[in-house]
Amino acid sequence: MSQEDHKLRQRIRYRHVEKIYMDLKELGYHDNDPLKVTDLITLDQWHYFGTAPVDAAMKLLEIREGARVLDVGAGIGGPSRYLAHKTKCHVTASELLPDNHRVGQDLTSRCGMTGSVKHVCGDIITTELCNEEFDHVTSIQAIYYVEDKPRLFRQLYNSLKPGGTICLEEFCRLKDVEDADEQAALDFFLLCVNTLPTHQDYKHLLEDAGFEVTVHDISEAYSEYTYGRWANWDGHRDKYVRLYGEDMVDGWLKFIVTTKKLCNEFGVVGGGRFVARKV
Ligand SMILES: C[S@@+](CC[C@H](N)C(=O)[O-])C[C@H]1O[C@@H](n2cnc3c(N)ncnc32)[C@H](O)[C@@H]1O
Repeated sequence: MSQEDHKLRQRIRYRHVEKIYMDLKELGYHDNDPLKVTDLITLDQWHYFGTAPVDAAMKLLEIREGARVLDVGAGIGGPSRYLAHKTKCHVTASELLPDNHRVGQDLTSRCGMTGSVKHVCGDIITTELCNEEFDHVTSIQAIYYVEDKPRLFRQLYNSLKPGGTICLEEFCRLKDVEDADEQAALDFFLLCVNTLPTHQDYKHLLEDAGFEVTVHDISEAYSEYTYGRWANWDGHRDKYVRLYGEDMVDGWLKFIVTTKKLCNEFGVVGGGRFVARKV
């Protein structure tokens, strides 16, 4: 698949990038008003469980004031801002899609955080990173989009200082698909990549790049989360259609049903948190 194809598909998945501005309006903010990170955190975390995965990374990696952190696949910068706000570290927020990058920059600027969060737009695989630039790398539900993971992990290894650490939270494949329904759901979910690694695959990929790795299986939590999100959806439909339009809401619903099937009903997809040290 060409890079352009890849970007296009990603763009379709993330076409709700402007949603944050609608949500801020609902909260009473006007265009260009200064923002508080603490108001944004219910809106800008594009993954499961709000800020909990960022808190987990902070704790597991012991991220301290002044540390240099690379956030891979930063979305609109939610985890990067929260991390910098909580620890007073310096974050480089790397994001593939120009629209996400632009909104991330705007929100960071309106939070008065341009001194601690720097946004970089481009494919992390080809982004120029200095050798031994970072103390830590974090990434939440983004690496699975990257096709060439061996190259990605070599790139991240080189960008870390000796002894530097990584915390990745990712979707993982738990078993082979067993029928056409499972295959169709997995194909829709993956969209832009051919395969989804298992927990062991990720461990080996990181070890091959030179890391020492600890694996945390968080599949049970993913199963409960995706089920709860699906079960609670209906009550909000009318409000969401009013705010965001039918087309957008139908797109999300398809995604919500698919992730509930994969993580809860079929048990094909789970979650993993990978903590790794450059040795
Ligand atoms: C599910 S979102 C998660 C965003 C963010 N980590 C968060 O949790 O709020 C995944 C993000 O990774 C980005 N991404 C995918 N492939 C990428 C790549 N090769 N380089 C940089 N960013 C990438 C996507 O554009 C998307 O914004």
